[in-house]
Amino acid sequence: MNDFIQGLPKVELHLHIEGTLEPELMFELAKRNNVDIPFSSTEEVSRAYNFHNLQSFLDIYYQGANVLINEQDFFDLTWAYLLRCHEDNVLHTEIFFDPQTHTARGIPFDTTVNGIHRALKKGAEELGISSKLIMCFLRHLDEESAFETLEQANRHKDKIIGVGLDSAEVGNPAGKFERVFKEAINQGFLTVAHAGEEGPASNIRDALSLLKVTRVDHGVRCSDDPTLVEQLVAQQTPLTVCPLSNIKLKVFDKMEDHNIVHLLRQGLCVTINSDDPAYFGGYMTDNFMAVANAHPMSKKEIAQFTFNAIEASFISDKEKERLK
Ligand code: ADE
Ligand code: ZN
Repeated sequence: MNDFIQGLPKVELHLHIEGTLEPELMFELAKRNNVDIPFSSTEEVSRAYNFHNLQSFLDIYYQGANVLINEQDFFDLTWAYLLRCHEDNVLHTEIFFDPQTHTARGIPFDTTVNGIHRALKKGAEELGISSKLIMCFLRHLDEESAFETLEQANRHKDKIIGVGLDSAEVGNPAGKFERVFKEAINQGFLTVAHAGEEGPASNIRDALSLLKVTRVDHGVRCSDDPTLVEQLVAQQTPLTVCPLSNIKLKVFDKMEDHNIVHLLRQGLCVTINSDDPAYFGGYMTDNFMAVANAHPMSKKEIAQFTFNAIEASFISDKEKERLK
């Protein structure tokens, strides 16, 4: 089964580029840019990556991003991730970035987006990996800041396909961003949102009705609401599930308790993704392996995760055919 999973073509739809910052690159960039980081060795970093919930992770994750200063840093970060994709046979990836994490530190929007985009272009040319870029609003910040960010994205519409919503779910309801999502849709952006990761199933309902999302990031708490599950099956609304992330952030106690295979068998369009692989201990193949080891599945079921991800992706029907 390991060889089957390793060789299986994969499509990733839930990946925060800032979450691919491996400790080695963090140290290298800290030195290159003369930035202080609160760690002196990779062992110390591993010890710190012991999270008890989403917020305890976010605090460390935003701190890590401080080493990203110049366009080349964002390029190096993205290129390192694409090389890992190549190893894992990831053929297409849809990447989130958090511009506000960087603009708040005085790093221009253009620096971030241009560095990421240059690496994605090289990834297509040299590795044959296609990609899309999705800009996330940080939900712990206010609506005004989200509108400013949307304005800054205007010059980069050729590089950004959609907007998303991430950061602390509990206490930051979707309704806070209803107007900015409406404006983003008017401007031609697709929409996705994190919902039902730590927050209740009603947050998934809100993301669908208020933010008009075409897919839900995480969404695993839908199980608490059987009527919602029926609706998600009927509409084939994709859920971008991140198994190792959910264990690291204690959404489920252990992989055997994870509901992803149950959701698949109920007929939902579920996909497997890595979220923040440098922090959660695994890229795409590791996530597939972890699920398959905890939940015996047929090869057909495992491959269904890839078929679902192709269907759920933001590529054209013609490009979808290339991946099938
Ligand atoms: N930002 C990066 N990873 C995240 C996650 N799993 N949930 C919410 N915001 C995030
Ligand atoms: Zn995420």
